[in-house]
Amino acid sequence: MKRVFSLIFTTFLALSAAAQVSVIPKPNKVEAEEGRFKFDNNTTLFSNEKSSSNLEYLKALLVPATGFSFNTTKEGPADNYIVLDLSEQYGIDPGKENGLPKEGYILDISAKGITIKAADGAGIFYGIQSLLQLMPAVVYSGRSSGHEDWSVAALRIEDSPRFGYRGMMLDVSRTFFDAATVKKYIDWMAYHKINKFHWHLTDDNGWRVEIKKYPLLTSKGAWRGPGEVLSAAFGSGKTRYGGFYTQEQIKDIVAYAAKRHIEIIPEIDLPGHSKAVTASYPNVACDGNDTGLSVQGVGQNVWCVGKEANFHMLENIIKEMVKLFPSKNFHIGGDEVNYTSWDNCPHCQALMKKEGMKEHDELLNYFVRRMEAILEKQGKDMSGWDEILEGGKLSPNSRVYAWRSVAKGIESVTKGQPTIMMPGEYCYFDMKQSKEERGHNWAGIVTLEKSYSLDPIGTAKLSSEQANLIVGVQGALWTELLGWPVRFIDYQTYPRLAAIAEVGWTKPELKEWGEFYNRVVSSHFERMFHMGIAFRVPPPVVKFEQGAVKAELPYPWAVVRYTSDESNPTVHSPVYRGEIITDKAHKFRFATFYRDELVSQVVKPENAEYKYLKPVTTIITSMAENPKFPVKNLVDYKFETYFRSEKKIVAGDYLTYLFDEPVKAKRVTIETGIPNISFYGITEGYAEYSYDGTNYIRGDDFVRGTVVIYPQKAVKAIRLVASDTNDGHILSLQDLRIEE
Ligand code: ACM
Ligand code: ZN
Repeated sequence: MKRVFSLIFTTFLALSAAAQVSVIPKPNKVEAEEGRFKFDNNTTLFSNEKSSSNLEYLKALLVPATGFSFNTTKEGPADNYIVLDLSEQYGIDPGKENGLPKEGYILDISAKGITIKAADGAGIFYGIQSLLQLMPAVVYSGRSSGHEDWSVAALRIEDSPRFGYRGMMLDVSRTFFDAATVKKYIDWMAYHKINKFHWHLTDDNGWRVEIKKYPLLTSKGAWRGPGEVLSAAFGSGKTRYGGFYTQEQIKDIVAYAAKRHIEIIPEIDLPGHSKAVTASYPNVACDGNDTGLSVQGVGQNVWCVGKEANFHMLENIIKEMVKLFPSKNFHIGGDEVNYTSWDNCPHCQALMKKEGMKEHDELLNYFVRRMEAILEKQGKDMSGWDEILEGGKLSPNSRVYAWRSVAKGIESVTKGQPTIMMPGEYCYFDMKQSKEERGHNWAGIVTLEKSYSLDPIGTAKLSSEQANLIVGVQGALWTELLGWPVRFIDYQTYPRLAAIAEVGWTKPELKEWGEFYNRVVSSHFERMFHMGIAFRVPPPVVKFEQGAVKAELPYPWAVVRYTSDESNPTVHSPVYRGEIITDKAHKFRFATFYRDELVSQVVKPENAEYKYLKPVTTIITSMAENPKFPVKNLVDYKFETYFRSEKKIVAGDYLTYLFDEPVKAKRVTIETGIPNISFYGITEGYAEYSYDGTNYIRGDDFVRGTVVIYPQKAVKAIRLVASDTNDGHILSLQDLRIEE
């Protein structure tokens, strides 16, 4: 009887150990075993690897958190050990039935000790990552935690990635992140078994890599603001904004990443997106008086293809850069070229004629092929955005990053190119994560679930050869909205990168959204917290129904706090315990708190009645309207429609809301910028208001595109005035929010 009981009991323990495996990305095979391994001050480390890098990495995490010394031994210990066992023998070779694929590992935990086996250093490293995730989350904290039970359940994991390329791209041009931040970002990627860092080093708004032969690229091209060659952007306003990495810093970061088994693929974005270059070295641009603008509203930002000297300059830049980046691949951009530059340039037109080209995308292909050749001379393969598929053929080695759609990725492999799937609608972390939240939305709302749902090979009818050309998947963070709030880089990246990590690593048949979400909220939040990531905490869904405000928690144990006076909830606000009957639902605000340190987006009850006044209003303005976003959008009191100017606004530009009848209002909120994005808002300007329509009282300056006015009596008019040239190449305005 006792035996039966203990058998049942140990089976239960083993099952619960399997259930506790909440590793992200999900391992491909887990078997629970009996017992636990307990770490203590006598636990020793042993590695047979030639390089001590993995061992040191593990030790650097374990020692501070546990307080144990983790001495290393010269021979494989018999008991109480962590062994890193690397042998090529464990790998797949043609004569063998079984073996570990590249980056694969076996993690064996028993009561006696822990062994990680792999056929390459990356495999050992990923075994370490899985082990860390099985440990108490404070292991990531880097400091003594007071945690006492340092033990892990016995199990065996046999694991390897689905794709060899699991990447993340970071734009450091629009927002500059210093070397320490980049290293932290790399650390976080490594915790998720991401193995490629695509470093978008240059764009219109800043060149960020030191090139000794062309010092102006960074002495001028890395800075924007008053008196600089680059104008202020994205709210940088009157401060000189920018920065760059020295070659020494780059080498240091590349080495740092390599220790974490992350390859850095540099990108210099060419031939478009190059305002930082053409502003520093004006001869690089086309001649002719082209007034066309790129998608982002930047003029004269394209390398001239007709000037042969440009290719010498590019070759010199590449020669310096390949010394910094050992990656076999080099990304040359190729996206969103403003062709009117070439269309109006005598040199480009002469080249087209000479080469017998008819279409301007053939010039793009000409440029791209020249870049392929320059890189090939340096022993590198070229990579580029999916536009490089246009205008002609590519070398079969050139890798295409499909960003515009899955279809572009399919087109790419159909043409025989190695391809990275990173369609914006799944992989662009500059997209907002819910309707009312900061972020772009041109590729849709990219929720965690949406990112998780990507299958890079998917349902397309691809031959196995074509499917094999899909070498991986990648997340991307473009950073024009990243200047604020603080740590928005963390918020936009996590947990969405955890989803992309699992897309890249885990077999599709093992993926299940609900189960993944459960792992994220029940284990990974706590890990990310100790990793030091200010990740996005999901807000509650709040509704106003039948006279009561009701919040649906994002997960059952979520701490949701609220206020009833329109202020943002704080850690001192009451915790939501159940529906609240009210006739002032519009005054409620809710947010989820994680450990009272991270706060979700603040949400208002859906369908609560907001009592904004809608006075009949005439608009008088100095600004020309974009016919697709006309002035009348400002007086329809539909908050989703808005106004766009045709052009950048400058000092003295104004827009007046003139009310037919003076309006009695407690408060008027003037929000500029695209609704919920605050992009193209007023960066240099103020509001004024008038009680008689003639004499104006000066209100506040716009801060982050917003001003609030508290009138003392009925207002006849409100006016927005630009005090200087604004950052955006256009201006967007929204309807006034007038409260009684
Ligand atoms: C891109 O988003 N322009 C690659
Ligand atoms: Zn030209």
